[in-house]
Order: sequence, then C-alpha cells, then structure tokens
Amino acid sequence: MKIFLDTANLDSIKKFNDMGLLDGITTNPSLMSKEGGNPKDAMEEITKIIKGDVSLEVVSTEYSGMIEEGKRLREYGDNVVVKVPMTPDGLKASKSLSSEGIPVNVTLIFSANQALLAAKSGAKYVSPFIGRLDDIGQDGMHLIKEIKEIFSNYNFETQILVASVRHPVHVVDAAKIGADVVTLPPAVLDKMLQHPLTKIGLENFLSDWEKLKSENPDIKI
Ligand code: G3P
Repeated sequence: MKIFLDTANLDSIKKFNDMGLLDGITTNPSLMSKEGGNPKDAMEEITKIIKGDVSLEVVSTEYSGMIEEGKRLREYGDNVVVKVPMTPDGLKASKSLSSEGIPVNVTLIFSANQALLAAKSGAKYVSPFIGRLDDIGQDGMHLIKEIKEIFSNYNFETQILVASVRHPVHVVDAAKIGADVVTLPPAVLDKMLQHPLTKIGLENFLSDWEKLKSENPDIKI
C-alpha cells in the first residue's frame, strides 16, 4: 500500500520523506490555508521535494475553469495530479484531463456510486473521505470495502486513495482491505511509528549498557 502525506506543511513533508516513507502528497485548499503564506511557494517546493504524485486541487467549480487551473497546476511538475471535486463538471474535467494524459484525483467521494462514476471518467485516483463518514455515524471503512469489490469486479485501473484518515486503526483496516493508497495527516503517521514497548525496551537496553560501561569505562560500539 502506498503512503501519501495529507498536508502542505513542508517540515512534515521533509521529515517523513527523509525516512523514505512517502510515495506522494495530497493537498487541498483547507490544508494550504492552514499553512498560510503564498500557496504558490508551497506547491513549487512540494513538487520538487517529492518524486511521487502530488495532488493539487482546483478551486473553480465549472468545467472550463477547472481545465485552465488544472493545466496551470501541471506547470509545477510532471508529478502533479489534478484534484477535482465529485461534481458533474468535475467528472467532465476528469474525462478531458485524463484523456490528455493528465492524471486526476476525484475528491469528496462519499458513496460507492460516486467512486464508480469517477472511475468511469478515467480518474487515476478516487478519494473516499472515511473520517467524515464516521463523524456522521456511518461506517467509512465499509465504503472502502464496497469500492474495492466493485473495482476488482471490473478490473478498473483507478486507485482507491483512502482520505480523511483519523487514526492508525484506519490504516491497518485499509491495508487489510487492499486499498491502493492511504493519505495520512502527519499526526497519524507519527502515531504509527510509536509503540510503548519500543520506548520501554530502548530505555532498558540503554540503562543496561550504562551498567556495563561503568564496569568497562573504555568500551565503545
Ligand atoms: O484528503 C482529504 C482530507 O484532508 C480531509 O480530511 O480530516 O478534513 O476530513 P478531514
């Protein structure tokens, strides 16, 4: 399963990229706004740091604006995936851009039928938002199972990009279902790195080493 980071925060992107964990990045206007500053600088920087796919989102709501913005966004790099909303104009833009060889991520997917239609439009990725479904008392992960089954039935090449991830259990569940990608807020990826027994184990190793060192002051590894 590929791991994308769902952020426009450059420090987080550099931190996890240096660990070799990142296959790509997803952003949206809210994430850009959270970082402040000029989004142009962030988009330039992110597309340079990350070799994999970087989703940058259009803000036009009608077809021709989406196409113009999509083409401008692609000027940041060949790794740019144009993110369009799950609307009739979004699907029309997805079809046009995809047929020109420009990869598209259809975002704000909340039902299996929306995912099916986005795949039919030729999108490279569909982004179901599981956390927001959980928030309103629906089972977000059930949606991932349904989309996986439908895409497998028809050998769709469109990839399932699990978005709106809230915690590490979402990641394990998405991986068990066989989702292609999860996009993670930095805080979730941080939590995935940690386990209390790792911390305790390391503290014990170090204190035992200190004991050994007090008996052998010259030892070194
Ligand atoms: O990638 C989409 C994601 O950023 C939405 O997450 O937490 O705002 O539901 P959230």
